[in-house]
Amino acid sequence: MTKIYIHPLPVRLWHWVNAVGFVLMILTGFQLRFAGTVRLLSFETTVDLHNWIGFVLIGNFFVWLLFYLFSDRIRAYHPELSPRLHFERSFRQMQYYGYGIFKGQPNPHKLGIYDKFNPMQSMMYQVVMLMLVPLIAVTGLLLWDSTVFGGAVQFFGGTRVVGTIHYLLFVFFCFFIFFHVYMGSLGHTVTAHYKAMFITGYEDAHDEPQEDTESPRSGA
Ligand code: HEM
Repeated sequence: MTKIYIHPLPVRLWHWVNAVGFVLMILTGFQLRFAGTVRLLSFETTVDLHNWIGFVLIGNFFVWLLFYLFSDRIRAYHPELSPRLHFERSFRQMQYYGYGIFKGQPNPHKLGIYDKFNPMQSMMYQVVMLMLVPLIAVTGLLLWDSTVFGGAVQFFGGTRVVGTIHYLLFVFFCFFIFFHVYMGSLGHTVTAHYKAMFITGYEDAHDEPQEDTESPRSGA
């Protein structure tokens, strides 16, 4: 059985810190938002923790960004430029997750070191990493010191607007984590993706090859 090295060490280290950090940010975020209901830590300690972990996550984001910017692995994040192919493949992937997987059909996505994401993951991870993570970080930074960043906060519509955007993203990430962890269990075994991302970096190339060779991504 062929093994493919799809998650190099910097990606795995980034993901470890990111996963633990996000879970802690969500827990401390809950405590801050629902301070009257949940009271595991004092308000001051929770604010300090939330701020410090936030800074660690911002630094960690640059580990991910710089690794991909200076590595040929960035090809894994190249979008499919043909909308027709993108939607056809996404549809095939959705059919697989909604039906084929329960019938033991092969995954339509062929794994490769430059093609580790299926079309749905590819789109989701681009939106999450290039838009939503930066947006929750920037809004968090603005709220962290609204005197220093007062001008920017006013520019974006005031503390209420910035706070609401930050909160809505928090809600999104609460749901994202559950969905993401569930999707992570849909490899050829329940633990295959977890082992690859958190320990070995390797996935087994079990899947049947894709028929269509129209796009350069499928051959990568
Ligand atoms: C308990 C928390 C988490 C677990 C157990 C987990 C699990 C996994 C697994 C198994 C993979 C590899 C398989 C796949 O792509 O589906 C993965 C990849 C990924 N995860 Fe997570 N994850 C967690 C939290 C997060 C969070 C909070 C984010 C973003 C804010 C995130 C973003 C990503 C991204 C972008 C990838 C692809 C990384 C790359 O290969 O470049 N994950 N995760």
